[in-house]
Amino acid sequence: MSEPKALAERKQHIVLGVCGSIAAYKAAELARRLVAANYEVRCVMTEAAQEFLGAKTLEAITGAAVITGFWDGSENGSISHIALADWADCVVIAPATADTIAKLALGFSENPLLALVLATRAATVVAPAMNCNMWEHAATQRNVETLRSHGVTIVDPAHGMLACGWEGSGRLAELDDIVLAMETRLSVAPMQGMRVLVAAGPTREPIDPVRFISNRSSGKMGIALVRQALIRGAAVELVHGPIDLAVPRAAAVTPVTTAQEMYDVVRQRAHQGGPWDMIIMAAAVADFRPRHQESSKIKGSRGLESLSLEANPDILATLGTELRGRDRPYLIGFAVATGAESELVQDAKEKLARKRADMVVANLAADGFEGDTNRVWLVDSTAQVRALECATKDSIAAQILEAAIAAKSREGRDDV
Ligand code: CTP
Repeated sequence: MSEPKALAERKQHIVLGVCGSIAAYKAAELARRLVAANYEVRCVMTEAAQEFLGAKTLEAITGAAVITGFWDGSENGSISHIALADWADCVVIAPATADTIAKLALGFSENPLLALVLATRAATVVAPAMNCNMWEHAATQRNVETLRSHGVTIVDPAHGMLACGWEGSGRLAELDDIVLAMETRLSVAPMQGMRVLVAAGPTREPIDPVRFISNRSSGKMGIALVRQALIRGAAVELVHGPIDLAVPRAAAVTPVTTAQEMYDVVRQRAHQGGPWDMIIMAAAVADFRPRHQESSKIKGSRGLESLSLEANPDILATLGTELRGRDRPYLIGFAVATGAESELVQDAKEKLARKRADMVVANLAADGFEGDTNRVWLVDSTAQVRALECATKDSIAAQILEAAIAAKSREGRDDV
């Protein structure tokens, strides 16, 4: 199969397999998201799945017939499950039951979904959902390991309340994590073997036990960078301030609160967790903190006319100075301003030099804060400033990483 150009030009083909679990209803939302993300989706349902979700629902969402039996759509001499097995770029089974996992591990082919997985050469992603005791049972765990050894990606179930009344691991993973696993399998992995450290989100600087100074950063840009680096095959660590977002489970994560904590953790990871290929400071670190933190709540009646502040350590500038030599990672910082574009770019150039970064991503607060899209300018040591069109934060993140990979290989740093 040597048709990379053709592959790049057409929509990618996803076969979504649905098994008989309470979580089957989530497959409808997954199918909708995949279609919205421009994938071509075909669904295969087991008999039990149809007790939980109507095939008509998936047909309406995907605009294509759903395979439920061996002879569905097998006109003109084609055998539908074999044709689909060849058609697929990725097979995603969500939810996958203990029964289907066991049969996949043993190579059974008694229904069209099992036969399709046995026949396909496409990447396979399995997202289990079941009672927590069934999930933890040695038989299931052995079957899951067998699937892993066959090259199947398992998106581990999440912990929580289960429909059966038990609390434990068995809930279908977040759809974000299933899509991420699928996209990782579909990608050509230009960051395979790379290690990336990302700091994201705001920091909080306490005034007293109930009040703090912070900013409007949502952390979405940083999480998009984490997701895109994972999709490209990198191993990613994330240090983040207080955010209200789902974090990809494939990343190693350390939450922090204050700028000082972020400084301590990022510096420790930068020096002791390395070598790193890239460190990305996407965090909106508070520049200042209250000089004194009151140990009890300041009474409104007491009044507070002024707050004495002191500077926080600058994480990016510290890394820029401390990380030198052959193992120095590619250092990316951000700059945000509320003024004109020209001033923003000038400010980013000044920051690049002062903090000894390799790239500064400049954006206007009005474009980037809190929303799902951003418009940025990439400033690096070359004289050229690259303006990226307004796009989703995932798309901007992908372009930042691609620019950084290109710059790294230009500088011959990628052989360290
Ligand atoms: N940064 C940091 N440590 C700080 C402050 C900022 O590592 N104490 C990093 C941010 O993560 C970001 C870049 O430095 O990558 C932004 O620098 P900053 O000086 O805070 O710039 P702006 O907030 O853009 O603007 P200003 O200079 O006006 O504060």
